[in-house]
Amino acid sequence: MPSQRKNILITGAAGYIGSHIALCCLLSGEYSVVTIDNFHNSFPTACKRVSAIAQRELGASASDEDKKALDIEVYRGDITVKEDIEKIFKDYESKGGIYGVIHVAALKAVGESGEIPIKYYDVNIAATVHLLDIMDRYKVRNFVYSSSATVYGVPEEVPIRESAGLKPESCYGRTKFMCELMLRDVCDSNPEWRAISLRYFNPAGAHPSGEIGEDPRGRPGNLLPLLAQMAVGKFPEGLKVFGNDYPTPDGTCVRDYIHIMDLAQGHVDALAALPKDDIFQNTDKGTGFGASGGKYKAYNLGKGKGMSVLQMVDAMQKASGFTYKVETVGRRTGDVPELVANPELAEKELNFKAKHNLEEMCRDQWNWQSKNPQGYEGASA
Ligand code: NAD
Ligand code: WQD
Repeated sequence: MPSQRKNILITGAAGYIGSHIALCCLLSGEYSVVTIDNFHNSFPTACKRVSAIAQRELGASASDEDKKALDIEVYRGDITVKEDIEKIFKDYESKGGIYGVIHVAALKAVGESGEIPIKYYDVNIAATVHLLDIMDRYKVRNFVYSSSATVYGVPEEVPIRESAGLKPESCYGRTKFMCELMLRDVCDSNPEWRAISLRYFNPAGAHPSGEIGEDPRGRPGNLLPLLAQMAVGKFPEGLKVFGNDYPTPDGTCVRDYIHIMDLAQGHVDALAALPKDDIFQNTDKGTGFGASGGKYKAYNLGKGKGMSVLQMVDAMQKASGFTYKVETVGRRTGDVPELVANPELAEKELNFKAKHNLEEMCRDQWNWQSKNPQGYEGASA
C-alpha cells in the first residue's frame, strides 16, 4: 500500500531551522518531505541525518512503504530560478502532488543585508513571488512562512503581541515584512489560499541526538552558536558582550530563546491548523498591519521568557564546563534592549507550546557542538 503521507515542500531543509522542521514533519507521521536547497549556507549531510533519525525513531513501527517515505527527496536548485522550483511541482504531479509549502530558504544576516540589498530582495522576495506564482498555477495553496521577530523593530511594548506595529529596521527585516504583506494580498485574492507566517524569536539548541544542529559558515554572528564554538576551542579571544548599559536587570540585552525542536514542531502545528476556518476570522488581531478578508495570519513562536546575554553565558558555561573569557564592548548597531514574545495566540489557535527549558536548550546546543566540532564539513554521512 502506498504511503498515506502528504508531500510537503520545505525550501531550505538542509539549513538549521529547515532540517529540524523536516524531522518534525517526518516524525508526525503525517508528511513526507521534498526540498530545494542550493547549499549556500548548509550541507546535504543534514538531510541524510534527518532521514536517519526518523528511520531510527519510527523504524520499528513503520511499514516498508512508510520507511521509504522517510527519505527526504533533495533537489539541488536555486529558489531564484523559476525552472528549478517548477520542476518539483511538475515531477510531483505523478507522485500525489504537493500538499503545501513551508518556505524557509532565505538569506538572514542583518548586517550583510544592508551591504547587498539587491541580493536579499532577489532571494527573499523575488523567489517568493516565483514560488507563489507556481503554487497558484499548480493549485497548491497551503503555505507556512518563516518570518521573524525582527519585523517588530523596536517594540513599544514587551512581551510583544502579533498586533504590535511592524517597523523593521534592516533590509533583511523589510524583506520578511514585505513577504508577509504579499501573503496577505495573495490570500485576499482567492479563498482557497491559506497562509500562516511564523515570527521566530531566537531559536537555539539542537535535536537531542546531536546529529543535526546549527552550522553557520564562518564566524557565527549569533550568540549561542558562537558560545558553543568557543567551548570547542575556536575564537580564543573570547566573547565581546555588546553593551552592558541597557535598561535591563544586568544591563545586557534580553532575548526570548526558544528550543529549535519546539520551534520546528510549531510548523507541524501550523500545517494542522491551516484547514481551520475559525483562526482566520479575526485576522486584525494577528498581523500587525490591519484587518483582511483572506485566510492569512501571523503568529509569534517564542518561549515568552527573557534571558540576558550574561545569563546565556552562564547557562552555556554550566552545560559545557567551559569557562568563557568575557569582555564588554560598545553596543552593536541595531540591537534593541528587549525582545520577548507573547506566545498566547499560537498556544490558543495552533496548539503550540514551547516545552523545553533553558538547561535543555544549552545541553542540546553543546551536545551537537561537542559531537561535531567541525560541523557537518568532513562528515561522511
Ligand atoms: P540557514 O541559512 O541555516 O537555512 C537557510 C537554507 O536556505 C540553507 O540551507 C540555504 O542553503 C538555503 N538557501 C539560501 N538561499 C537559497 C537559494 N537561493 N536557493 C535555495 N536554497 C537557498 O538559516 P536558518 O537559520 O535555518 O533560517 C531559516 C529561515 O528562518 C530563514 O527564512 C530566516 O530568515 C528565518 N529566521 C531565522 C532566524 C534565526 O535566528 N536563525 C530567526 C528568525 C527567522
Ligand atoms: C543575541 C544577543 C547581542 C553576539 C538575530 C537577528 C534576528 C533573528 C535572530 C533572523 C544580542 C548579543 C551577540 C556577540 C553579544 N534572525 N551578542 N556578542 O540579534 O537577537 O537576533 O538573530 O531573523 O533578526 O537580528 O541574536 O544571537 O545575534 O544576539 O553580546 O558576539 O547577544 O547583542 O543582545 P539577535 P544574536
